Amino acid sequence: MSQMSVLIDFGYIAASILFILGIKMLSKADTARRGNMVSAIGMLIAVLITLLSGGMSYQWIMVGLIIGSLIGVVSARIVKMTSMPEMVALFNGFGGIASLLVGWAEFNSNPGLPLFTAIAVFFAVLIGGVAFSGSMIAFAKLAEIMDGKPILYKGQQIVNSLLILGLLAAGTLWAMDPTGANGYLLFMGVMVLSLLLGVLGVIPIGGGDMPVVISLLNSYSGLAACAAGFIILNNVLIVSGALVGASGIILTNIMCKAMNRSLANVLFSGFGAVTTSSAVSGGPQGEAKSVSPEDAYYILEAAASVAIVPGYGMAVAQAQHAVRELGELLEKNGAEVRYVVHPVAGRMPGHMNVLLAEANVPYDQLAEMDSVNPIMTTVDVCLVIGANDVVNPDARENESSPIYGMPIINVDYARTCIVMKRSLNVGFAGIQNPLFFKENTRMLFGDAKASLQSLVAEFKES
Ligand code: TAP
Repeated sequence: MSQMSVLIDFGYIAASILFILGIKMLSKADTARRGNMVSAIGMLIAVLITLLSGGMSYQWIMVGLIIGSLIGVVSARIVKMTSMPEMVALFNGFGGIASLLVGWAEFNSNPGLPLFTAIAVFFAVLIGGVAFSGSMIAFAKLAEIMDGKPILYKGQQIVNSLLILGLLAAGTLWAMDPTGANGYLLFMGVMVLSLLLGVLGVIPIGGGDMPVVISLLNSYSGLAACAAGFIILNNVLIVSGALVGASGIILTNIMCKAMNRSLANVLFSGFGAVTTSSAVSGGPQGEAKSVSPEDAYYILEAAASVAIVPGYGMAVAQAQHAVRELGELLEKNGAEVRYVVHPVAGRMPGHMNVLLAEANVPYDQLAEMDSVNPIMTTVDVCLVIGANDVVNPDARENESSPIYGMPIINVDYARTCIVMKRSLNVGFAGIQNPLFFKENTRMLFGDAKASLQSLVAEFKES
């Protein structure tokens, strides 16, 4: 083994270790930034070592590097935090198409592939193609270029199953004899059918479920990169692809669990096909007691402990800065303030954490649902800001509810619960929430930011 290849292997091992450490650090809010940096250093080492290994056309690499870096820097600077899911969808798609192109290039430059490489090429094209076109549909739905509603038609699952069977058949025939008379046709067939499968697989999924799908496609793009690593026999690509593949699957699983839904239910049920604007299953359940900002202020002013529970409505209202301001005023007033974040509050993983961090809410005030639920009866006031499904007691009590079994924040166990939203309308799951009609609940109707600003003004005036 030459000294150069030893150096390359060491470099790749170092890069892989940095990736793993970086991912570990991403799991905590206060180490996440450093984790990102550690992984980026790992990637830099991997790229430099690969370039050192030689045998490539550097002028084309420079062109790719410049264009890619420009797109990366510009998009990181201009894309809003709230548009992160569609950004991630695009990046997954680029990862997928890169692996597909590696497979295609290998087939073009070396048609007489040995069976092992042919199988790797097949997987890189299949998974890369699905990841690319599926991610483009996910991007279009999230960016509202396409309607977010699930597109459903009769026999959809049969069509998709036949497509998968066709793909496997074409792929097997091609891999067994890549240079055969129909080799080129079969290869092109695999490519086109993979791209079609990505589109047809993602159109039946509603916009609200897209974050789960994106995390799954992220995993696919990793697996495709892993297959590409086997094609070009690059160890760090195999390791990093496998890491992305595994972490994407773990994240998908965490999100499904937090919603108490199976992955099959997310992928095939067409969830969100019912209109969520006013579909009130079960109808009103008693009378909701509404309060004015002034009344809400008196309740909060007397509270010794306050739990703030943000939800999707806080993101819509962009109320995170007003939330932090109110939190600080409550603390000044002597109350113990905690922010309790549900794992699937909002529409993307960590949605609420990102917004609260942007507004400089201190990390040590963030509390896990599981740590606050057991002591909820000791909390004076729960302030629910634009959250609905994640605080719906039906998930705990009503076996016939579609969200029965989903873990929720037990805000109704607090002494008083103030809910800020614009109306009694339903949330993402499209179901009514008995919380709004409970004895200890007070509804503060209106846009969350406007309501919070009124409360802040009340505190400042007092
Ligand atoms: P939701 O149940 O979606 O409820 C959000 C509420 O915010 C709505 O009921 C709406 O009521 C209110 N709202 C909207 N705009 C507002 C504004 N400007 N001011 C005040 N309120 C406003 O939200 P959640 O409790 O955060 O639950 C998240 C849901 O999304 C769960 O069902 C979860 O399973 C699903 N989901 C989450 C994810 C991830 S990864 N987070 C991914 C896919 C799906 P009004 O219209 O009456 O104001």
